[in-house]
Amino acid sequence: MKPKLVVLTGAGISAESGLRTFRDSDGLWEGHDVYEVASPNGWAKNPSLVQEFYNLRRKDVLAAKPNAAHIGLAELEEWYDVRIITQNIDDLHERGGSSRVLHLHGEILKMRSEYDETLLFDIAEDIQMGQLAPDGGQFRPHVVWFGEDVSMIQPAVLEIVQADAFVLIGTSLNVYPAAGLVNYLRADVPRFIIDKKIPPVSDSANWTLIEKAATEGIAELKELLKL
Ligand code: APR
Repeated sequence: MKPKLVVLTGAGISAESGLRTFRDSDGLWEGHDVYEVASPNGWAKNPSLVQEFYNLRRKDVLAAKPNAAHIGLAELEEWYDVRIITQNIDDLHERGGSSRVLHLHGEILKMRSEYDETLLFDIAEDIQMGQLAPDGGQFRPHVVWFGEDVSMIQPAVLEIVQADAFVLIGTSLNVYPAAGLVNYLRADVPRFIIDKKIPPVSDSANWTLIEKAATEGIAELKELLKL
């Protein structure tokens, strides 16, 4: 059996594929306050704006390509049973070749009823206002907004407690419950961070810190992890 390598990723891993992170440019995300476009309040106030915002993000994702970091993680499957937990809504881990990817915050290439998150459908085009789910609810992007339940957190915790090694890539650890996942690691688990600006972790002495861009850091990580 291969050892289990659990990887938690955030927007930083997709930055070099041309997708903007959330908190690297003055708290604005593509010119918008994150809470305006990523909260139930924002949706209630101006659903068309939110819909249009995510329609554009979907186009960006479809135009982007996986980078060396996504691909490098897939290559680690030669030695490890790699389990990706991503906060990203893009599909770059899947297109980079990773076989086990858990999306904590949803997927932009899916849409769902505004009433029922289990009424879920694949979507590659724009979602139109007036496009209704079978339950009569407006279709919205399958994205977890601030204040909404993170229903995938339970399966993510199950992965984390079984980890033999752990890597954190490209997340500022600002958003809970995702940021709290690291607290479930067993004490003896080797742990690594790759980030252009290492985020604060309480027990930083126990971490191997690779303060580099993801595509560069992944090469170093592979050297450290090769069995
Ligand atoms: N390589 C590695 N790390 C990078 C790179 C890069 N090329 N570019 C930026 N980073 C790092 C930043 O230093 C930062 O630590 O990526 C991190 C990005 O942080 P955020 O923008 O806060 O993104 P993330 O942590 O994924 O946000 C979490 O917030 O808005 C919500 O739901 C949304 O999933 C998202 C969540």
